[in-house]
Amino acid sequence: MTDKYAVIGNPIGHTKSPLIHSTFARQTGQDIAYGVIEGPLDGFCQTVDSFRAAGGCGLNVTAPFKLDAFAYATDLTEQAQLAGAVNALKFEGDQVFAQNFDGIGLTRDIVHNLGFPMQGKRVLLLGAGGAARGALLPILAQQPAKLLIVNRTESKAHALVAQFSNFGELAAASYPELSASPETFDVVINATSASLRGELPPVHTDVLSPDGLAYELVYGKGLTPFLRLAQGTGVRRLADGVGMLVEQAAEAFAWWRGVRPDTRTVITTLTVPLV
Ligand code: ATR
Repeated sequence: MTDKYAVIGNPIGHTKSPLIHSTFARQTGQDIAYGVIEGPLDGFCQTVDSFRAAGGCGLNVTAPFKLDAFAYATDLTEQAQLAGAVNALKFEGDQVFAQNFDGIGLTRDIVHNLGFPMQGKRVLLLGAGGAARGALLPILAQQPAKLLIVNRTESKAHALVAQFSNFGELAAASYPELSASPETFDVVINATSASLRGELPPVHTDVLSPDGLAYELVYGKGLTPFLRLAQGTGVRRLADGVGMLVEQAAEAFAWWRGVRPDTRTVITTLTVPLV
């Protein structure tokens, strides 16, 4: 029997998930149907209840429902609990298993696809919103020498440090403090939402190292202001979040189906050149 999966969000017209998952299914010989659900903003639970009643096995969850999915779950992984948000659900009887694969997708892309091990490296994370929070545990699991969180609202960065201090070495600073310090970083990750509006976080070019990696979580927009800044500073390795998108999908697919798909061809298909 064909197993049913879907992505739920609102709006959802832009989603790449059906293309990604149907490619994974073909590649691995899995018999699944993958749909798209535009959930009503005030009706997440009812929509998911209906999907389950119709035999749905799992969902990818995107904005604005990641907190609703967190509340809907009966079994949250530690990563989902610490991320405070959920991007994948798996249904088994009355149980609703929940995970957040975004940060794992990010670190898999950086370490495996881009060949940039973070162990012993200096990592700078810009932003302290939902995306940054979801990335923290997977980044700390890579055992960087230092993880510095810098956010426009500095108190949010300090709150994350307090929450994650049991899991590794991390610190917080403001943008002015960052500019005043002579430190450079091997990996600089833009986890702010600034690029979605064509804005640049107030980061000083001195923090970027030419031999380092500048990683933009936003994908498909070519050279964002952050990546343009990094390129202008001479940073040779630039990446956007397309690999993270495909890797988090692969993690969900493996979690649902017990088989890990190959991500390379899908990443190549979805890559928008950084120009
Ligand atoms: P997301 O789910 O994408 O992480 P979010 O939780 O709203 O969205 O968080 C957005 C993040 O981008 C925040 O860290 C925000 O900084 P504040 O906490 O100070 O609001 C950051 N951000 C958004 N626009 C920015 C800009 N122009 N410069 C710097 N940081 C910005």
